[in-house]
Amino acid sequence: MQVYKVGGAVRDRLLGLPVTDVDRVVVGATTEEMLAKGFRPVGADFPVFLHPKTGEEYALARTERKSGRGYGGFTFYASPEVTLEEDLIRRDLTINAMAEDDQLNLTDPYHGQRDLEARILRHVSPAFAEDPLRVLRVARFAARYAGLGFTVADETMDLMRQLSESGELQALTAERSWKEISRALLEDHPQVFIQVLRDCGALKELMPEVDALFGVPQPETHHPEIDTGLHTLSVLEQSALHKQPLTVRWACLLHDLGKGLTPEEEWPRHIAHEHTGLKLIKAVNERFKVPKDCQELALLVGQYHTHGHRALELKASTLLELLQSFDIYRRPQRFEEFIAACEMDARGRKGLEQRSYPQADYLRGAAKAARAVAVQPLLEQGFKGPELGEALKRERLKALKAYKEAATA
Ligand code: CTP
Repeated sequence: MQVYKVGGAVRDRLLGLPVTDVDRVVVGATTEEMLAKGFRPVGADFPVFLHPKTGEEYALARTERKSGRGYGGFTFYASPEVTLEEDLIRRDLTINAMAEDDQLNLTDPYHGQRDLEARILRHVSPAFAEDPLRVLRVARFAARYAGLGFTVADETMDLMRQLSESGELQALTAERSWKEISRALLEDHPQVFIQVLRDCGALKELMPEVDALFGVPQPETHHPEIDTGLHTLSVLEQSALHKQPLTVRWACLLHDLGKGLTPEEEWPRHIAHEHTGLKLIKAVNERFKVPKDCQELALLVGQYHTHGHRALELKASTLLELLQSFDIYRRPQRFEEFIAACEMDARGRKGLEQRSYPQADYLRGAAKAARAVAVQPLLEQGFKGPELGEALKRERLKALKAYKEAATA
């Protein structure tokens, strides 16, 4: 039997990038032979094994045939007769369909190396359409390699458009979609992921709430870019430039969804979009079974980002309500992430990317002032239960009034 490295490991080595995951394909072997060599079988669906010592993945060369809708609808055929070329042709992109042996001899029947040099993401064959998740994968690779100049081939975009229009994306499970979305958001150019999905019609299928933001105007005074969709892309871009975590990036993507619901006659103003957007944010969160920390931050940022921008004008009582809503006493990190998302929102505007955001330090100072109020003296005065809560609130309000006066004097 022969063993080859395939997929991302070959691609990234040729690009001169670090290789983390190594996938291998085995040609000319049977399941029985693999088991006899001590390989451990994994995955109920495919003939994949783990190396007894290294734990790396070895898959038998296989062909795949689609037998139904979605990812479940697969049958595969693995046998010692399946050739390397047959295994490679069922893969998604030419740059992912190269193999190399131990001596680094390259097998590249579908011209992946040529496309690597030309910086093109191109599908290998019509078999691309057998897994609709590949629409998201291509958009994710576009987001990852945008800095190197990669773009999606026109014919691949056409295929992605057909797949999107066919309704196939609806068959993807929440888990598989979220895995792609979350990885894409953490890439260097997450805005490219959303842009590619939009260009091929997939965004309308996956997140119509985000798609609806394109073409919706905002007031030029605060938003020189005007278009809400373009603003959202810029906020996402800022979040990556500033190396924000996934929670913040997810909140950035969803913060303005309410603007997509504003009746046209009210444009370019969006009164109460922070509230109208909440049910949309909730729907997107649930659709992809998003992790709880991402869900929560997106909802809080959606509801309170305007408060963040107006921090210096807020009354002490409103400031206190804001801090309480974030439960800053037990969840300090979450408030920091809120501040970061607000700052990304402020910078994600055409020509204003370098602006300063004094609201950030002001909000941090306010949180510090509220947290500094000690409980012990109130306990010593005999406060208990709900009265203790009320007394704490009064003291925190006093502290915030003093903070505000001192900070804005
Ligand atoms: N593959 C595919 N279609 C999919 C998933 C994977 O064709 N839906 C193939 C590709 O050849 C890919 C290989 O399986 O290169 C390994 O997949 P995976 O480990 O998910 O991706 P990598 O290409 O290694 O990329 P990453 O760096 O994102 O892990």
